[in-house]
Amino acid sequence: MSCHEKAYITTPIYYVNDIAHIGHAYTTIIADTVARYSRMSGLDTFFLTGTDEHGQKIEESAKARGKTSQEYADEISATFKNLWDDFGISYDKFIRTTDPEHMKGVQKAFSVMYDNGDIYKDVYKGHYCISCETFFPESQLVDGEFCPECGKSTTIVEEESYFFKLSAYEDRLLAWYKENPNCILPKSKRNEVIRFVEGGLDDLSITRTSFDWGVKLPKELNDPKHVMYVWLDALMNYITALGYGTDEANMDFWPARVHLIGKDILRFHAIYWPAFLMSLGLPMPKHIAAHGWWTRDGEKMSKSKGNVVNPREVADAYGLDNFRYFMLREVPFGGDGDFSQKALIDRINSDLGNDLGNLLNRLIGMSGKYFEGKVDSGNVAKYYQSELDEVHASLEKLEPLLFNMQIHRYLEELWRPLSVANRSIDKYQPWTLMKEGKEEEAMALNGLIAAILGKVAVMLYPVMPDTCKKISDALSFNIDNRSWSALVKENKLLETFTIEKIPPLFPRVEEPLLEEIKPADIKTEAKVETKTETKTEKKEEGVALIGIDQFFQTSLKVGTVVKAEEVPKSKKLLLLQVDVGEDEPRQVVAGIKEWYSAEDMLGTQVCVVANLKPAKLMGYKSEGMLLAAKDEDGLCMIRPEKPKKPGTNIG
Ligand code: MSP
Repeated sequence: MSCHEKAYITTPIYYVNDIAHIGHAYTTIIADTVARYSRMSGLDTFFLTGTDEHGQKIEESAKARGKTSQEYADEISATFKNLWDDFGISYDKFIRTTDPEHMKGVQKAFSVMYDNGDIYKDVYKGHYCISCETFFPESQLVDGEFCPECGKSTTIVEEESYFFKLSAYEDRLLAWYKENPNCILPKSKRNEVIRFVEGGLDDLSITRTSFDWGVKLPKELNDPKHVMYVWLDALMNYITALGYGTDEANMDFWPARVHLIGKDILRFHAIYWPAFLMSLGLPMPKHIAAHGWWTRDGEKMSKSKGNVVNPREVADAYGLDNFRYFMLREVPFGGDGDFSQKALIDRINSDLGNDLGNLLNRLIGMSGKYFEGKVDSGNVAKYYQSELDEVHASLEKLEPLLFNMQIHRYLEELWRPLSVANRSIDKYQPWTLMKEGKEEEAMALNGLIAAILGKVAVMLYPVMPDTCKKISDALSFNIDNRSWSALVKENKLLETFTIEKIPPLFPRVEEPLLEEIKPADIKTEAKVETKTETKTEKKEEGVALIGIDQFFQTSLKVGTVVKAEEVPKSKKLLLLQVDVGEDEPRQVVAGIKEWYSAEDMLGTQVCVVANLKPAKLMGYKSEGMLLAAKDEDGLCMIRPEKPKKPGTNIG
């Protein structure tokens, strides 16, 4: 491998409507691992991450918090950057889609695609999910209305739009997938993409006129009411970060060696992105690697479910490197994984504590007891060649596993040398060798164990950088391209050194270190009386304090009841249509019939929790919850003091 070979590695850019959870950390940690390995192996590496800041969803989140879109984006983008900095993520650039250079680059790309005839203007009509920033055909909607990805209500959008001629790229895309069996990893995902494209591609609407928060079209098109579709804007980050359309300084890093993504955004990366690149006349990325989902208790993690695991909390409690190891080892790349503290503790105590930490302790103990800490590799090959061969055979398998994103297998294979080492101590018994006066053989065994630990530390470094640095310090060498070449590629041993005693690397974890995070109770959605009771009970015990951010996660709006009727056969429920300032009224099933008749409610104003996941009550969909207060005297609605426009934010 020449030292000029380039490796460009990317994460998705994260939406700034949410703070980071372990799903985001997972993508970033995999990318960081690949980037660290690339650098160590001598590749000229560029690692990109950043934030995706435009679009209707962000505009609305900002409004709901009384901030400008830019203020809001600045704030959340910084939380991602701080987290990655605190995690020591080795990115070379943190891009923001609000960076002026990025926006210029996107406009440039738009012009190029327009000029070569791939973009035309027409009218778009379709079902749009604001939360996913995606159009869905009617056939994919749940109950003819709800988003198949997130379950939220979609809206019908009819507007003038520019289109990208995606349909014209069908054959070229299929040829690319077929000629490059590893272009999409894992391979099973490539087959899914091929089947999808073979089913036919529609042209893609790539501009919007219904909101402002986005990149404007290039000036020469003279069409200021359009902003670019957020996915077009976002995908371009992979080239604008290298200077596309501005100074082009780093464009020689293109094409990407790997775009790391989650499986939910594969369609955008494996279909739209290559088609855009073909239109721009740029080469295809080498790999698009899609990992699976982290769930909690089998459910997708999301803010609204309250089951989000905070990566900072886990890393603080268990150690960042341990957390990194766990995430990469626990789940086969591409598969889903359920986060549990028990599984994390098992990995720490068993793989890390028993197999690795203990081995280092044994080496420190052995060398201290018999050789005053000295380790000399001089006679290792004389006594332990077969062990060395076995170790080398494992090490040779590693690099392709990493670059093909089989990181769980990489770690599994990397543990074989550790078991060779542990087995050798048990088999050759240094204490017996010493008793029998075979000092040279005992020292060689010492050298073997040290060499294995050194080699493993080098190859484990990309996954556990701090821990491996401690190991290499104890063994008196530095982890870098030189030691990687010597210990891994050339199968050399460590030079003679005196071992440094260090405290145990992986103290045993006896019990969970974090309080269980309970998923929010979603069964009670729209059941006003249940919710208010819970609130009262809690108050008596003293309510837990929350930050303002948590409060603002709830979207509260003023609504006007435009239709009210009874739910047949129900003593408690009314079926209301509530205007909350959207195209169509929301249907809300409210458990208030004991206190309010349908007539009482009609035409009145109410306060609506507007971002609850839709629920079904007695067969009726409910898309919100009304605020009410209940005590021994009964229940009363909470309403604005003066009439307010439907849709007015409360907070
Ligand atoms: N902004 C887009 C990406 C644009 S890239 C040109 C986006 N952002 S995101 O913040 O919603 O998600 C970013 C990444 O986090 C995706 O790869 C997604 O798959 C990953 N994850 C988000 N939640 C996840 C889990 N619960 N588990 C694993 N990864 C998940 O999509």
